[in-house]
Amino acid sequence: MHWPHAFERGDNLFPKNPDGIMRYDYTDYKDTWKAMEKLVEKGLVKAIGLSNFNSRQIDDVLSVATVKPAVLQVECHPYLAQNELIAHCQKRGLVVTAYSPLGSPDRAWKHPDEPVLLEEPGIKKLAEKYSKSPAQIILRWQVQRKVVAIPKSVTPARILQNLQVFDFSLTEEEVSHIGSLNKNYRYIVPMITVNGKLVARDAEHPNYPFKDPY
Ligand SMILES: NC(=O)c1ccc[n+]([C@@H]2O[C@H](COP(=O)([O-])OP(=O)(O)OC[C@H]3O[C@@H](n4cnc5c(N)ncnc54)[C@H](OP(=O)(O)O)[C@@H]3O)[C@@H](O)[C@H]2O)c1
Repeated sequence: MHWPHAFERGDNLFPKNPDGIMRYDYTDYKDTWKAMEKLVEKGLVKAIGLSNFNSRQIDDVLSVATVKPAVLQVECHPYLAQNELIAHCQKRGLVVTAYSPLGSPDRAWKHPDEPVLLEEPGIKKLAEKYSKSPAQIILRWQVQRKVVAIPKSVTPARILQNLQVFDFSLTEEEVSHIGSLNKNYRYIVPMITVNGKLVARDAEHPNYPFKDPY
């Protein structure tokens, strides 16, 4: 389930009002989960999972689930380390997948003042030490904290490079140092302009996940 809040049912995946505000649906995500469980029972899918749910919403799904969510996919990288949310999931047996693990540098709506993860000095220093790229240091960090990372690349050499992270290890101190770079900074917050002001697109939906601490 991509988000805990739903858009209006129909063929248009991003239904909007003329003022640019999304047209929402208020189906309880627990009902959606029960419907998804039927797909597992029928053998149509092997596993089902969640994305962009916060810890409270995960527990809410677990309270009704007969098929446990296999994974939680959330934005996660050194600037959004998600330490508490990862601990919460790992305690409950959910695998965490890190999306935008390299800070999603090719986003169309990038803000000119946003921090550039792949330019982080602490990461670049480790890259030099291990003769690896900053991307490889970040991916190795996720491997060592048992988080699955899904970097995206259209460049064959980078796709290969992003797999070559199993021939070196960071020390425990280096793993915690990278964790301490956390700024709780989200690159992926869908935004829209309302009355000339840029606002989080879905923040008014009751299931918007990012108002809870984690
Ligand atoms: N569940 C959700 O709500 C959600 C939200 C956002 C994203 N995602 C998923 O997360 C995955 C990745 O996200 P993303 O594309 O936003 O972010 P990302 O993987 O953090 O960043 C991709 C960018 O990093 C570059 N890159 C890749 N490997 C590199 C390397 N080794 N060195 C330097 N640059 C490198 C890519 O360039 P090139 O391609 O030009 O090589 C591309 O510009 C995708 O599968 C996406 O669908 C899920």
